[in-house]
Amino acid sequence: MPKTLVEILIEQGKLTQENLQKAELHSRQNDSSLIESLLALGFVKEEDVAIASSKQLSVPYASFENGILNSEKDQNLNDIIDEKFARENLVLPLFMEEDSLAIAAIDPSNVLLLDNLKMMTGLEIQPFIAPKSQLLAALDKFYSKKDQLSDVVSEKVNELNEVEDSDSSLDNIGSAGDKLDLDKETLVGGAGSHYVRMVNAILRQAMTERVSDIHLELFDERVSLRFRIDGSLYERTPPPREAVSAIISRIKILSRLDIAEKRLPQDGSFAVKFHNRTIELRVSVCPTVFGEKLVLRILDKGTGDLNIDKLGFEPRQKRDFLEACAMPHGLIFLTGPTGSGKTTTLNAVLTTIKTPELNYMTLEDPVEYKLAGISQVQVKPQIGLTFAAGLRSFLRQDPDVILVGEVRDSETAESCLKAAMTGHLVLSTLHTNEAIGAIPRMIDMGVEPFLLASSLALVAAQRLVRVLCPHCKVPYIPTQEELDLIYKEAMLPESDRQTWTFFKPVGCPKCNNIGYQGRKAIYEVFKINDATRNTIYKTKDLIELRKAATSGGAWNLRASAWRKAVRGITSIEEVMSVTMSEE
Ligand SMILES: Nc1ncnc2c1ncn2[C@@H]1O[C@H](COP(=O)(O)OP(=O)(O)O)[C@@H](O)[C@H]1O
Ligand SMILES: [Mg+2]
Ligand SMILES: [Zn+2]
Repeated sequence: MPKTLVEILIEQGKLTQENLQKAELHSRQNDSSLIESLLALGFVKEEDVAIASSKQLSVPYASFENGILNSEKDQNLNDIIDEKFARENLVLPLFMEEDSLAIAAIDPSNVLLLDNLKMMTGLEIQPFIAPKSQLLAALDKFYSKKDQLSDVVSEKVNELNEVEDSDSSLDNIGSAGDKLDLDKETLVGGAGSHYVRMVNAILRQAMTERVSDIHLELFDERVSLRFRIDGSLYERTPPPREAVSAIISRIKILSRLDIAEKRLPQDGSFAVKFHNRTIELRVSVCPTVFGEKLVLRILDKGTGDLNIDKLGFEPRQKRDFLEACAMPHGLIFLTGPTGSGKTTTLNAVLTTIKTPELNYMTLEDPVEYKLAGISQVQVKPQIGLTFAAGLRSFLRQDPDVILVGEVRDSETAESCLKAAMTGHLVLSTLHTNEAIGAIPRMIDMGVEPFLLASSLALVAAQRLVRVLCPHCKVPYIPTQEELDLIYKEAMLPESDRQTWTFFKPVGCPKCNNIGYQGRKAIYEVFKINDATRNTIYKTKDLIELRKAATSGGAWNLRASAWRKAVRGITSIEEVMSVTMSEE
């Protein structure tokens, strides 16, 4: 008997029995196929599934890595399969050979599709199987004319060797003089102008797609260009291998780094103008075994939405947060991993509570949002301006409200506590999984429990969930089991159930076929009540503390996430993957 996909995945060591069982449960709860659940839970990679299907169906595998997922340029393949058909059916023409046409598809066992193709083209169809995300990127690369990226980036450049590593060519890749204006094409002659155009094209494309990070790296065989959008990385048309080092040199020049230094990591920054806004980019170059890896972070926070009502707070959570912030002194902690939106929330809170009668100061690493009327200080540990040292000198500046970017060490922890006890309101962040985790973390950093209990005003945690694309999401009814689980965990009244409407992600051109567009924060917000204070004196046990903190009816991250799902803002899968059940 032929092996199933799952059997092949296990045989190839890509899947464990334990994960399989979890996925079976997930698939029953979500009414999804087993493979969908394996993917949703992150237990297998799309690539592994495609490779396994390739084995199972005896259909060859096409990917960027093996170089096959690359349409022949000179065969007018876009006349043979037009863009609309290709995108609707997720099929990409690869090459023609005599009377046969090679295509890549996600599901080459789709006989209907193959028959249609055969009729449409009059050619024998030779299918290859490709992983979905790679196929989508390949479709963009092949069809998209408005995608300046693929046009410019994949352009073959002549006389490359002249430019690389030669001093005289530096003029050609531009200088760090004026601010780079992406709305105007920089005019520089020579081979170097190709790289300038490539860099501009990559930056423009990234800004258009609301990208937060750009990753450019070399692997053994291939170049990878990836964009982070709403937290996930997506492949984009990479530049040719021989252009990578000139592109990195161009970025180094823009950010005034040493272009000759290729063995040590370097950090820098530069700014570009785009659609009349100035956008700052942080640059990190790091040597890897295959060459330098470049990561650009786009700090587009100047125009960032700091409207507290748009972040994602539930009304009661917002009220609790603002009430704690109105206290004359005390400690407020917002927890969550990097990228969960903490800085954005705290800046929005400051913007909301700011009044001219009070003195606000921030100590950050680095300063991300520029806030009017607030003294913001960037820590510089190299010259001794650490969080702790900054806080000490702050206290002589007579602040009322202090934002401390992050508490990482016991010295900072102590300083924050001291500031809170001497009549200041201190807001800060910690990297813990849940809000309550702030309490044992502070105690572990050497803070006296009774001092903490008396000064702690509020602990909160947050995550970001992706918002379903409003253009393509479709309503559906989840299974009874799911509904019951949600009812149990969401802590909403029974009467609310009538109003629930769930949506599923689909994917359309507006969301680049992702099915989601943008994100919203979900929170857990616990005001420190007497029960919690008394528990802090006694123990740092999480379960005890959690019980005390929720005794007033406040709900956790998971419940907040469900509240977004029952209103069709996000999907059930997204809730499951971003938050954990407390059981
Ligand atoms: N409430 C929100 N809704 C949508 N996007 C957000 C929200 N909060 C933050 N972001 C985005 O998420 C990214 C990380 O946010 P940031 O505040 O820097 O997180 P952290 O400080 O936890 O590392 C940024 O690109 C930011 O624009
Ligand atoms: Mg931050
Ligand atoms: Zn869409």
